[in-house]
This record gives sequence, C-alpha cells and structure tokens, in this order.
Amino acid sequence: ALETPGSGRLAGRHVLVSAGPTYEDLDPVRYLGNRSSGRMGFAIAGRAAALGASVTLVAGPVALPTPAGVRRTDVRSAAQMRDAVLAAAGSADVYIGAAAVADYRPRLLAADKIKKTQDSLTLELERTPDILGELGSRRQRPMLVGFAAETGDVESYARDKLARKNLDLIAANHVGEGKGFEVADNALVVYAADGAVIDLGEADKTELAARLLDVVVDRLVEKDG
Ligand code: CTP
Ligand code: CA
Repeated sequence: ALETPGSGRLAGRHVLVSAGPTYEDLDPVRYLGNRSSGRMGFAIAGRAAALGASVTLVAGPVALPTPAGVRRTDVRSAAQMRDAVLAAAGSADVYIGAAAVADYRPRLLAADKIKKTQDSLTLELERTPDILGELGSRRQRPMLVGFAAETGDVESYARDKLARKNLDLIAANHVGEGKGFEVADNALVVYAADGAVIDLGEADKTELAARLLDVVVDRLVEKDG
C-alpha cells in the first residue's frame, strides 16, 4: 500500500476529535442548529488515522462517511457531545474541538409539537456546557486544540478564547466573504499558548487538516518525546 508522507508519526497516540453542528431540540419535530458541515473535523480525524493514531470522532448530525480507521460516535445535542467527549478524553493525548457546538438550547423541550395558537412566540434559551472550557479547567487533561470562526478582529477574539479556555492551540478563521462554513476552501492561522503564530495559509479543508495535524504532531513529540 502507498504510504502518505509522515505516516506512523501518530502511532500509539489517541486523538479525539469533535465535528459538525449540534442540534438542540425544541419539540419532537423542531430544533435549533447551525450550518457546520463537519468536513474539517472529519478531515482531521481521517488524517490522524492515516498517521497511525487511534482516533475517536464524536460527530454531530452530518451527512459524511466515516473516514477509514476512525471510531465514530454520533451525537445530537451539546449535552450528548459533552458526555461522549469527556468519556473519551481520559485516554486521549489530544482533543481537537472542531465541532460548532450550540451556545444555547431551549430551556424547555416540549413533549408535543408546538401549535401556532399565538401571534408571536418567545423562546427562552439557556447556555449549553462549554466542552473545551470544561476540559481546560482540569489539571489532568489532553493537549487542547480549539477552533474559532470569527468576523472582525479575528486575532484578538482567538487569543481571548485561547486564554479563557486554557487551550494549547487555537485555529482561527475569518468567516463571511465566501470563507468558512459550507465552503470547501478556508484559511487558518494557529495561535499557541506559548505565543507562537503559525499561518497555515489558504487551502481546501483536507489540506488544512493535514497542516494543522503537522503542528499538533510536532508539539506532541516535543512534549512527550
Ligand atoms: N466549544 C465547546 N463547547 C461549547 C462552545 C464551543 O467546546 N459549548 C468549542 C468549539 O468546539 C471551538 C471553541 O470552543 O473549538 C470555540 O468555539 P466558539 O463558538 O468560537 O467560542 P465560544 O466560546 O462559544 O464563544 P462565542 O461563540 O461567543 O464566540
Ligand atoms: Ca459559540
């Protein structure tokens, strides 16, 4: 079989990846969701497996095939994603949070379909758990890699998240103007807790996933030898 360059660099490592959106149910037929395709997280998971890692992929609702060699757990809500990620995090060397986790969910889940009996409807929302933030607050934790899709001052928002969630790396991208969600091409800049800035350039998501993993691998090797 043909081997990709660098194959085996993640042998013996457990890579945990989350991908896709989460859906927060409102009633039996409706939910709040977002436009994440899951492609970036799936590409990262596939590449990590190709590099020899044991890979756990926690996927929100997406229409994507499971990459070769990847162990996949499907979830729907942020709460389910949190439980699945935390269950695997104990044995993971790195957690790459590529999922677009919903920030809010309906405070109440209606048992029956909501009928249009009123002229207007106000939904009360509550915050979902912050999965990366929760892992970041732990003393014993895998290397943590976050994503930040931002408009405006991308760098300052990304650095703020890096610090606030106690991450090792954050991959930031500018959304809008045909970049980001639902498009194949993207551009990422990685900010590290040690101050390093690594521009991964502009490429399709498969290539960016490979470049991001190269950064992660270098740092894992540096950390543990
Ligand atoms: N994230 C998470 N749990 C959440 C929300 C986000 O683990 N409930 C993770 C995402 O997977 C991503 C990172 O945190 O890796 C940043 O997500 P983002 O939405 O940019 O940050 P938030 O903290 O939700 O802040 P905001 O949406 O207000 O910018
Ligand atoms: Ca958010």
